Amino acid sequence: MSGQEAPNLQERFAAVNGEHQALWKALWDDGTYTPWDRGSSSPSLVDLLQDHPELLQTPTPSSQLTALVPGCGRGYDVLLFASHGLNAFGLELSPSAVVEARKNAEKNPAPAGTHTFVTGDFFTKDWQGKEDGIPAGFDIVYDYTFLCALDPSQGLRPKWAARMAELVKPGGKLICLEFPLYKGFDLPGPPWPLRSEIYQELLENVGFVREMHITPKRYLEAGQGSDMVSVWRRT
Ligand SMILES: C[S@@+](CC[C@H](N)C(=O)[O-])C[C@H]1O[C@@H](n2cnc3c(N)ncnc32)[C@H](O)[C@@H]1O
Repeated sequence: MSGQEAPNLQERFAAVNGEHQALWKALWDDGTYTPWDRGSSSPSLVDLLQDHPELLQTPTPSSQLTALVPGCGRGYDVLLFASHGLNAFGLELSPSAVVEARKNAEKNPAPAGTHTFVTGDFFTKDWQGKEDGIPAGFDIVYDYTFLCALDPSQGLRPKWAARMAELVKPGGKLICLEFPLYKGFDLPGPPWPLRSEIYQELLENVGFVREMHITPKRYLEAGQGSDMVSVWRRT
C-alpha cells in the first residue's frame, strides 16, 4: 500500500490474520468494494451451456435438474442456470450478498426455472435444512472464483473437494471455470493461484472423473487468456 491509496483486496486479506469469513461478510455489508464482481456471468459458462446441451439433459422430459453455485455473490450464474430451466440455488456466506442477489434477480426477466438464494457456509450442512426445497445433493455444481477465494494455507482445498463430493449427486457434474491459472505462486490472494493439475489431484482423490477439459472460446479478461473449463462426473 502506498500513500493515501485505499488497500486492495490482497492487502485487506493479509491484514486480518486469517479471519477471512469475517472479512467477506464485512466487504458485503459495506457494499462499496466488490472488485471480483464483473456484473454478469462469464461468457465461458454461457458458451459451455449453449454448446453442450447434453450437460443439461434431464432423465425424463418433465423432470428438472438442480444446480448449486457456492459463493454466488450477486447470483449472475444462478440466474443463468435458471434461464436454462434448472432449479438453481445460490449459496452465500454473507446475508448482505444474498440481499444483493435477490435484488439483482428482480431486475432480470423471469427465468424458465427457479432461483433460490440462501445464506450459509459451504463447509457446513445446516443451510441445506434451512429452507424447504434445498436438496441434499445437486445435479450440477458450478465453481468460478470460489475455490480461488479460499486461502490454501488454511488447508481448505482438500475440504472443498470433499464437500463437493458430498454436494454433487452420484452421476452429477461439477463444472469448474479454472482460474487464475496464470498467477504466480508467490503472489498473494484472493484470488489464490491455481493450476489444472491442482483441480485434478483434489477432485480425483474424492471420486470425480474429468470428462471435459477445454479452452473456452470466450473468456473474461481477468483470466489473462489462461482460463480452462473442466467438467467432472461424480462416480
Ligand atoms: C471472489 S467472490 C466471487 C463471487 C461470485 N462468484 C462472483 O464471481 O461474482 C467469493 C465469494 O464467496 C463467498 N464465500 C467465501 N467463503 C464462503 C463460504 N465458506 N461459504 C459460502 N460462501 C463463501 C464470499 O462471500 C464471496 O462473495
